[in-house]
Amino acid sequence: MSRQVIAKVSQQALLHNVEVVRALAKDSKILAMVKANAYGHGLVQVAKALSTVDALGVASIEEALHIRQAGVKTDIVLMEGIFNADELTLVQTHRFILVVHHFSQIQALQAYEKPLLQKFKVWLKVNTGMNRLGFSPAEFQDAYSMLKRLPQVEFIGSMTHFAKADEKDNESTLRQYQQFYALLSEKEGLRCLANSAGILAWPQSHADWVRPGLMLYGASPFPNSTGRDLNLKPAMSLHSTVIAIREVNAGEQVGYGGMWESFGHCSKIAIIAMGYGDGYPWHAKNGTPVLVNQQRVGTVGRISMDMLAVDVSSLNDVKVGDPVVLWGDDLPIEEVARHAGTIPYELFCRFTERVTVEMTN
Ligand SMILES: Cc1ncc(COP(=O)(O)O)c(C=O)c1O
Repeated sequence: MSRQVIAKVSQQALLHNVEVVRALAKDSKILAMVKANAYGHGLVQVAKALSTVDALGVASIEEALHIRQAGVKTDIVLMEGIFNADELTLVQTHRFILVVHHFSQIQALQAYEKPLLQKFKVWLKVNTGMNRLGFSPAEFQDAYSMLKRLPQVEFIGSMTHFAKADEKDNESTLRQYQQFYALLSEKEGLRCLANSAGILAWPQSHADWVRPGLMLYGASPFPNSTGRDLNLKPAMSLHSTVIAIREVNAGEQVGYGGMWESFGHCSKIAIIAMGYGDGYPWHAKNGTPVLVNQQRVGTVGRISMDMLAVDVSSLNDVKVGDPVVLWGDDLPIEEVARHAGTIPYELFCRFTERVTVEMTN
């Protein structure tokens, strides 16, 4: 059998998580983030599985085309808009919706001279403190008026993005929210503010549309909780197998640099087909949890490119071919992320093409 490193994605869990969003933000439509290969879960398969959302959010026209050409009819929003004016023809053909965050994008719309198949649907992005994309409060009025005047544009509404919504006691989210609403008072159009942390922690920010990403995949955006704590279901479980077992004598070390030593007694070590060449984090510390035969053990030594080692001295009957779960239902990705000094977002996005990502029911 060939090397089996598989990320299984549960459609049922994805749809459950959509329902959690719906229950929390009852009056809001859902713009589901599927950018970055649907946070590593497989762009097309997730776009198809998320049949109950109102729109899909991507980072580039390539991502948008990929979904559309796979037959997905759901509205697709280019979250960073166009990167150059040539993209507008494809935007027309495929009815993509644009975020506009910069005057050059308005100018490109203004200069569009081909016959229109339909008006360009546009969200205006406002910077209320994230200082990443969006018109500043000082620029907002100009951008808004310019867009409203363009006959080729159908103005949908305005959106902003929170910088610290995952910090439940940090009032800066409220300040961003207040600034957004102050700027938009008397302005037409829909409002969209909340990412996952906003949906979960800041109900006043739900507005007309919400933009969940991480929570759809069943993980928590907060530092000290797991998706399960929030009634979410992990959509992904990452699987591999044991490919070797060895006895390591007291005083012997394991792996590159000998970063782990069997102290005072002999240890049983299982080698697993999973390494940083698959996307598993090299930074994972000794003791990062792994499930072997559904039982929790910890990594020992450095993660290699194609393999990692775990101490299975406490387990009976471990053998080559036994199943291994690196994260999933019974092993929260948040815990693995903490051991590796990173966040679930990054773990999801690290997979290389060696990992098969497949949808299950
Ligand atoms: C503009 C915007 N909205 C929403 C999201 C979704 O955020 P989250 O995955 O934290 O829900 C992102 C993600 O990076 C984003 O960039």
